[in-house]
Amino acid sequence: MTQKIGDGAKPAGSALNSVSKENAIHSLKGLAGKSILVTGGTGSFGRGLVDYLVQHFTPDRLIVFSRDELKQFEMQQRWRQPCMRYFIGDVRDGERLEMAMRGVDYVIHAAAMKQVQTAEYNPFECVRTNIHGAENVVRAAIRSGVKRVIALSTDKAANPINLYGASKLASDKIFVAANALSGRDRARFAVVRYGNVLGSRGSVLEVFERLIEQGATGLPITDKRMTRFFLTVQEGVKVVLSSLAMMEGGELFVPKIPSVKMTDLLEAMLPGGAHQVIGIRPGEKLHEVMVSEDDARATLELPDRYVIAPLFDFWDRTHYIDCGAVPVADTFSYASNTNTRWLDIEGIKALIAKSKAAKV
Ligand SMILES: NC(=O)c1ccc[n+]([C@@H]2O[C@H](COP(=O)([O-])OP(=O)(O)OC[C@H]3O[C@@H](n4cnc5c(N)ncnc54)[C@H](OP(=O)(O)O)[C@@H]3O)[C@@H](O)[C@H]2O)c1
Repeated sequence: MTQKIGDGAKPAGSALNSVSKENAIHSLKGLAGKSILVTGGTGSFGRGLVDYLVQHFTPDRLIVFSRDELKQFEMQQRWRQPCMRYFIGDVRDGERLEMAMRGVDYVIHAAAMKQVQTAEYNPFECVRTNIHGAENVVRAAIRSGVKRVIALSTDKAANPINLYGASKLASDKIFVAANALSGRDRARFAVVRYGNVLGSRGSVLEVFERLIEQGATGLPITDKRMTRFFLTVQEGVKVVLSSLAMMEGGELFVPKIPSVKMTDLLEAMLPGGAHQVIGIRPGEKLHEVMVSEDDARATLELPDRYVIAPLFDFWDRTHYIDCGAVPVADTFSYASNTNTRWLDIEGIKALIAKSKAAKV
């Protein structure tokens, strides 16, 4: 049995099991004929999502919502399918969001200010986009009768130490709590949290590649002990869509993805280079966490992801348990340095090649 996304669709046992496996995406047939809006649709994730959706489904409308007309103009040259709509708008503008969400079934909220240093230096701007923007998306979705919303989050939101992470944590909380605001015929809201996306705009891969092109003989590393979670844009798109299919509302989904030692990433990109240690930057962690020990009590494990359940009294986790989800131990945490899955240098090279081959 395949679970079809749609009004009132509950993840029946076998459906949830199938959703959790590699071929989860095939259960998303229900996206055909639906209207989908992606905030931040011109970004690295948004472009990957649009490319995936137009290749695999025939949505009725696929709306890209973002501010900069040049990026939208460039996308229009590439994705001209009749379903495509390009809306200029700012998530800080609730009225515009509401107008854009009319008749929309599913919203993926990817718009964000995401550079740690920029957020530290421009805190009011970060709060307006990442926190007020989240509130506006929730209000507009409830008022417009949207059925499901997935918001993207980051590992930096778990035990945050910088404003970017703290603002995304606030955003996560807003989306989880939105399920209690939306009433009986409710819009449902969930969050997907993941780590560094290889090759996304402003990513470490882009920075290192630019240095190598400029003839660098070594690359900068802030601390040789540093580890990070890594995935490709395409993997991010798939986990977001499969989470959209299985969500009940209120979950924070965390995919199981590999860790990388930053020294191995340097070696993969510039073998034998004279790499320089430049010291850890303000707001930077040595290792990232996706499920903190404090979240463990609320966390269930599926084969391909963790589900942090909301702490609402009314939220029933039995359907997840019935489908084979297992509560993690109280002492559990999911961190980049204690991960059981690692990529070695060859594995990193393969992931980089995979991410480049699929770049859109
Ligand atoms: N990249 C990563 O490594 C990573 C890792 C974990 C989580 N995430 C999360 O994934 C999401 C997408 O990231 P990404 O890598 O695709 O980012 P990105 O490439 O920087 O794209 C950001 C998108 O948001 C739009 N945007 C920014 N501010 C906006 C606003 N106020 N109103 C409307 N649109 C706005 C941008 O377009 P305009 O500038 O034209 O508005 C752009 O389309 C973010 O929520 C991020 O926190 C990313």
